[in-house]
Amino acid sequence: MTDKTITIALSKGRILKDTLPLLAKMGIEIVDDIKTTRKLILDTNHDHIKAVVVRATDAPTYVEYGAADVGVAGKDSIVEHGGNGLYEMLDLRIAQCKLMVAEHKDYAGDKGRIRVATKYMKSAKAYFDAQGQQVDLIKLYGSMELAPLVGLADKIVDLVDTGNTLKANNLVPTEHIYDVSSRLIVNQSSMKTKDDLLKPFVEEFKKVMDELA
Ligand code: ATP
Ligand code: PRP
Repeated sequence: MTDKTITIALSKGRILKDTLPLLAKMGIEIVDDIKTTRKLILDTNHDHIKAVVVRATDAPTYVEYGAADVGVAGKDSIVEHGGNGLYEMLDLRIAQCKLMVAEHKDYAGDKGRIRVATKYMKSAKAYFDAQGQQVDLIKLYGSMELAPLVGLADKIVDLVDTGNTLKANNLVPTEHIYDVSSRLIVNQSSMKTKDDLLKPFVEEFKKVMDELA
């Protein structure tokens, strides 16, 4: 990408669905049909703005390495990534949920060292370390709620919004780790080298968010 272009990394899935209306408010529309296109670098109605749509967990990595200058990523993905090489500029207040510890409603209580299943290894480790509790973390890539039901783990660390998924599986949330929403992130060196394009972009985004507040 030349210095005349800024590339936005958009997180697939629910974050994308909520990001597009915000971009539209800034007058930025994806020209390609996002639902059907097989293209990976998408044009917008602005020649100098391109978009890439990536897995939610990968968005911070694209921005860290400058493959994208800016991105929209969940706070959970940013924490798990570690935040190297990027600035978190704005809370976009979309895809809001909480990272929580949960257990079976009939869980008998901790007996010695427990097993905790999660996709969020870094967040879970930091949380239990801060509690001074030694736990065995089991990495899963999805369907964490299943783990306590089949004896894989005593507890889980997962995202909770309505609580319906927990309830449907006889689980209850017990501890709140942190609140999650999506953030606008910016590559630290792009912020300097593409200052002329990025500053107005971030300013405009901020204005849109202030109007929505
Ligand atoms: P991956 O590609 O990493 O497997 P995924 O399939 O988990 O992603 P989504 O379910 O779309 O993708 O979640 C992406 C992001 O959306 C999460 O990282 C989080 O920031 C947010 N999110 C996830 N679940 C919820 C929820 N129930 N309510 C609100 N926001 C959520
Ligand atoms: C997320 C999360 C929970 C669920 C919580 O899963 O991993 O399972 O949402 O939302 P709730 O409290 O409103 O029920 P998602 O729907 O994204 O499915 P997946 O991660 O398993 O693909």
